[in-house]
Amino acid sequence: MRIDILTILPSLLDGPFSASILKRAQDKGLVTICVHNIRDYSTSKQKSVDDYQYGGGAGMVMSCEPIVALIDKLKLERTYDEIIYMTPDGELLEQDACNQLSLKKNLIILCGHYKGVDERIREHYITREISIGSYVLSGGELGAAVLSDAIIRLIPGVLNDETSALSDSFQDNLLSPPVYTRPPEFNGWKVPEVLLSGDFAKIDKWRENQALIRTQQRRPDLLNKDEG
Ligand code: ADE
Repeated sequence: MRIDILTILPSLLDGPFSASILKRAQDKGLVTICVHNIRDYSTSKQKSVDDYQYGGGAGMVMSCEPIVALIDKLKLERTYDEIIYMTPDGELLEQDACNQLSLKKNLIILCGHYKGVDERIREHYITREISIGSYVLSGGELGAAVLSDAIIRLIPGVLNDETSALSDSFQDNLLSPPVYTRPPEFNGWKVPEVLLSGDFAKIDKWRENQALIRTQQRRPDLLNKDEG
């Protein structure tokens, strides 16, 4: 998979892709992340990437010209499955969308700033708009990192234990059960007996039951959801 991220603040994306699982996925050649600075595609003298909004009002709008130049260049080089715009008014990101996107080959993620991008980019280039939650961030970069992480960890071979992504919270519309590690007793707090029993059928049953209880208590909405 290849993900091209379009931003006016590329350094914001240095951290998330340079450690742990996302770094390993790149080192193994399972994903290529290319971060592009939109400013490099501005033809104005000041390398500007935004302008005042028509009709007046506070806040700048990201201009069409450099974004179109960059996307057109990328589209000449390969075919993209989706051109995603990170925005608080997009579809709320859910596990189903991450599962779908993890099967794609080439993705573009456009990060917005200020008041967002000129609507004509959304109309003519963007195929999908995604929000990572009902709150407003300073820009789309952190959202792009969240989305990329959620997708990349699902690519076969990225996680060491292939089954571990399948047992994530949300994959069956269920939250994960509680987990414990050594010691069996800490500060007088004991690990549930069943987990020490070595009876794996019983352990599976206990985990299923705990996942159900946790989901009922914390996210009952998930239990009424159709299987994706
Ligand atoms: N940009 C600003 N806020 C955002 C959000 N909640 N999700 C995605 N992109 C954003």
